[in-house]
Amino acid sequence: MSNEQLLSSESESSDDQPAPVSGADGLTDSTDTGEQSTTERTLLEARDLSVYYGEEQALDSVDIEIPEQQVTAVIGPSGCGKSTFLRSINRMNDLVDAAHVDGELVFDGTNVYADDVDPVALRRQIGMVFQSPNPFPKSIRDNVAYGLRVQGKDDGDVDEKVRTALEQAALLEEVEDQLDSSGLDLSGGQQQRLCIARAIAPDPDVILMDEPASALDPVATSKIEDLIEELAEEYTVVIVTHNMQQAARISDKTAVFLTGGELVEFDDTDKIFENPEHDRVEDYITGKFG
Ligand SMILES: Nc1ncnc2c1ncn2[C@@H]1O[C@H](COP(=O)(O)OP(=O)(O)OP(=O)(O)O)[C@@H](O)[C@H]1O
Ligand SMILES: [Mg+2]
Repeated sequence: MSNEQLLSSESESSDDQPAPVSGADGLTDSTDTGEQSTTERTLLEARDLSVYYGEEQALDSVDIEIPEQQVTAVIGPSGCGKSTFLRSINRMNDLVDAAHVDGELVFDGTNVYADDVDPVALRRQIGMVFQSPNPFPKSIRDNVAYGLRVQGKDDGDVDEKVRTALEQAALLEEVEDQLDSSGLDLSGGQQQRLCIARAIAPDPDVILMDEPASALDPVATSKIEDLIEELAEEYTVVIVTHNMQQAARISDKTAVFLTGGELVEFDDTDKIFENPEHDRVEDYITGKFG
């Protein structure tokens, strides 16, 4: 991946135009580097990041370094700024008129808020999955292929890429014989895996997930959790969850935000859940408030 991909240019500013892709070899560019999990490279870094909605401050001078190819969980009580933080990573807050961002969010060495960064190109590299599964009213194939089309990757290999993404999203076996049926005919859990397939089809570097399993039953939730752990072998995953057990189960690092948009503690997940530094974090984890 190179940072030039994020820079705006005439051809990239339109969805109709082909855009540069991540590495000549597509899916393999960041997968098989042979890195040990002990070598942590920071892929995303917030520096003194504050977000306001009008006069109201939703994130308060956040500093955080998120490692590559790991699962980072973001937890904290309702309204503490978790979704705001997630949206600040791929500039989804740009779409909120009242939102205003101060500070930096550095993605692989580039401040995504620099004037010459194209948010559309950025969002190709930092994909997002939302709380409620939101497939398009299109076939399963077209849902996944959509991600490829907007990226200018709609070439002859589309079917193969659709299958690969569905396989990575642990959905292929269940839908192999019905790729032309509507994505809306799937179960909720399948729809969410379809949305994950759509997010990974363009081969992003980062997948942001905002409570991706909170609308699902326990069986579907457990499938999504297994999938997230697998995805982290290839992608950097940042997941907001209200479910503390889920954060403890699936994440490597945990960031605890508390009221006022303050990042109070960020550390290895085991440390956060077994021996946090801050009493406020301990109180939150043990259910004393929140
Ligand atoms: N589009 C918006 N316009 C105005 N204020 C907003 C907007 N989105 C969020 N806020 C405010 O910013 C603060 C943080 O909201 P955010 O949605 O990031 O919290 P959250 O931690 O994700 O909460 P929840 O757990 O309920 O999803 C809240 O006070 C919220 O009211
Ligand atoms: Mg939220």
